[in-house]
Amino acid sequence: MQPKKIRKCLFPAAGYGTRFLPATKAIPKEMLPILTKPLLQYGVEEAIKANIDTMAIVTGRGKRAIEDHFDRSYELEDQINGTSKESLMSGIRNIVQDCTFSYTRQVQMKGLGHAILTGQTLIGDEPFAVILADDLCDNNNKDTVLTQMVKIYEQHPDCCIVAIEEVPKNETNKYGVIDGKLIEDNLYHVNNMIEKPDPKDAPTNLAIIGRYILIPEIFDIIKDTKPGKGSEIQITDALLTLAKQGKVLAYKFDGIRFDCGSVDGFVKATNYFYAKS
Ligand code: G1P
Repeated sequence: MQPKKIRKCLFPAAGYGTRFLPATKAIPKEMLPILTKPLLQYGVEEAIKANIDTMAIVTGRGKRAIEDHFDRSYELEDQINGTSKESLMSGIRNIVQDCTFSYTRQVQMKGLGHAILTGQTLIGDEPFAVILADDLCDNNNKDTVLTQMVKIYEQHPDCCIVAIEEVPKNETNKYGVIDGKLIEDNLYHVNNMIEKPDPKDAPTNLAIIGRYILIPEIFDIIKDTKPGKGSEIQITDALLTLAKQGKVLAYKFDGIRFDCGSVDGFVKATNYFYAKS
């Protein structure tokens, strides 16, 4: 099977970000900055590095700042034109110029699987990437996590790919956890996956982090997936259906990941990027 190019990246961005209240009362959590750049912009830059230029963002109420960020800002640009501040805007200006952004709203928060299904209207019938922007990844100047995954997808075009990392066993209840058979260096054929298992029920400590390559069959499967953990429609459960057909690979990526959905991870990421700046 000839791989289809991954052209689009879906960003589920409808969550309330309650762990960051009150900061996220009026500001989307995806807009919280690590240094001077919003989390979501890091995700978009990672997608661009993987040769993706079409960003599909699933938003919700109170998220308009996201649309404004990925747009021209004529007044502001006029103000800083010709000043030393201009260079600060060049990154975002290039992104806005080179990429297409489209949005749809998730009206009810019914889980990550449901958010991804909401994005179907923006993705259509083709394989696509998913980035959860609060999992912030870095691999210095080497291939980004998503670029590594696209390369694997090209070798296995009938499969979904999930990124995994080893986590302490007592933290399996924060992640989707996989079990599988090692088929190549760092690559597992997944035969089981469980959303946020208690450590005693976790088959391994291989946790899914917020990077996925999904094949379009996933949409119909999500439609048939019953609410699972937390009474939400879980992408992990939908992927399990495909895993049982031998169509899910888990890839232990090269690089570092920060859980910027937690204050602790957010601070660690800030310190890491500050030290590099
Ligand atoms: C989601 C997924 C989970 C995955 C995690 C990665 O959970 O449901 O399987 O391990 O993202 O960050 P969330 O963190 O949104 O609760």
